[in-house]
Amino acid sequence: MEKFLVEGGHRLSGEVTISGAKNAAVAILPATILCEDVCVIENIPNISDVTIILQMLQDMGASVRLVNKTTVEIDTRGVFTNMVPAEQARHFRASYYFLGVLLGRFKEARSPLPGGCDFGDRPIDQHLKGFSALGAEHEIEHGGIIRVAADRLIGNQIYFDVVSVGATMNVMLAAVKAEGMTILENCAREPHIVDLANFLNSMGADIRGAGTDVIKIRGVKELHGANYSIIPDQIEAGTYMVMAAATGGDILVKNIIPKHLESISQKLELVGCNITEYDEAVRVVSSGIIRKANIKTMPHPGFPTDMQPQITALLCMADGTSIVTESVWDHRFKYVDELRRMGADIVVDGKVAVIEGVESLKGAPVKATDLRAGAAMVIAGLMAEGVTEIEDVRHIERGYENILFKMSMLGARIKKMEMLPQQVVTAL
Ligand code: EPU
Repeated sequence: MEKFLVEGGHRLSGEVTISGAKNAAVAILPATILCEDVCVIENIPNISDVTIILQMLQDMGASVRLVNKTTVEIDTRGVFTNMVPAEQARHFRASYYFLGVLLGRFKEARSPLPGGCDFGDRPIDQHLKGFSALGAEHEIEHGGIIRVAADRLIGNQIYFDVVSVGATMNVMLAAVKAEGMTILENCAREPHIVDLANFLNSMGADIRGAGTDVIKIRGVKELHGANYSIIPDQIEAGTYMVMAAATGGDILVKNIIPKHLESISQKLELVGCNITEYDEAVRVVSSGIIRKANIKTMPHPGFPTDMQPQITALLCMADGTSIVTESVWDHRFKYVDELRRMGADIVVDGKVAVIEGVESLKGAPVKATDLRAGAAMVIAGLMAEGVTEIEDVRHIERGYENILFKMSMLGARIKKMEMLPQQVVTAL
């Protein structure tokens, strides 16, 4: 059983370099299947979600070669199947992007229904609505396998009933080689949507409007290989920014796009940090006080839901009562029980958490119930007295490259241990 042990009370300072964006990589890497050619993708994050996708691509017949730690060459000429590898897909939410790309390449795709972080109902009805508008039927086969297939994919006008990152990207992937024009309306506008569109355009696609709520895709017959560098990870950057706020610290967060961090910077200024933006970096200097704040998550450019657990952890030690409202996911406060174990005073009513700031948190055994909840436990651990022992760190490692090394370089006392509970006390 692997755990992180975090010793609280240490101020974090120095520089941290942000890796490539997970939620861009999990779409861009499968998208290489759309061309029968060779792509070189740079700035890939070294996280378990990416390892899984590269393995899936290999299992499907692609040849994958790591050029260096952050660059991969993928030759998709040998992809021979429209079936998404079952074992990996079941545990991995973003496997749904393989449906869009395989539909685009083979006009047919089969995959187990996707798994992933558990924070409520995670339907894919909007993905299927988009595929269907392009002419693809879907059915659930024996064993929970979803099959999507079309004789021809024909461009259409599609209005999404909810703003969905996954549906916007997946239907974009399926439409890129459809006949004629596809117009997607009520699209999500996250930076990774723009990144995917830029990558597809570099392969010869004709996509306009990514980053706005209307995306126009003129179908092309063929795509070709391309060299492309993935954008930096907005949420990894935001998480280190919150670590500065949580520890009275001073962190220069490097290799980022400041524009992507605006909603996070604004809230951190509100809670008492001084933020300076540079071309490709942002410096967060804490005033030493954590002020109360009210925060509502929204699709981009609003405050990201993927930063909600981290900011909630921070507000546990604010100087008053804060209200955090989650408007994207139905059940994204499950992790709050873990913060309560550490002495946090939080009441959750549906999608609203009321957080009464406390004088101190106490280190305790807690669980990383999902990826961002795990990041929240790390932040709470940094603020707490004593040692916090975080179980299920595999969730954290799905999305944060080298977190132990990066945090240690900033002065955190954090270790990974495989151990029995009674050994913890003497570990640090
Ligand atoms: N929704 C539907 N129908 C659909 C799709 C979504 O009703 O067909 C609803 C969802 O239930 C949710 C809302 O729409 O209430 C937004 O879901 P979205 O589709 O945008 O989420 P996603 O694409 O499944 C991605 C990220 C998540 C992030 C959300 C929102 C990836 C692989 N995952 O999920 O990231 O929380 O967008 O920004 O890109 C994370 O990185 O920790 C993470 C969970």
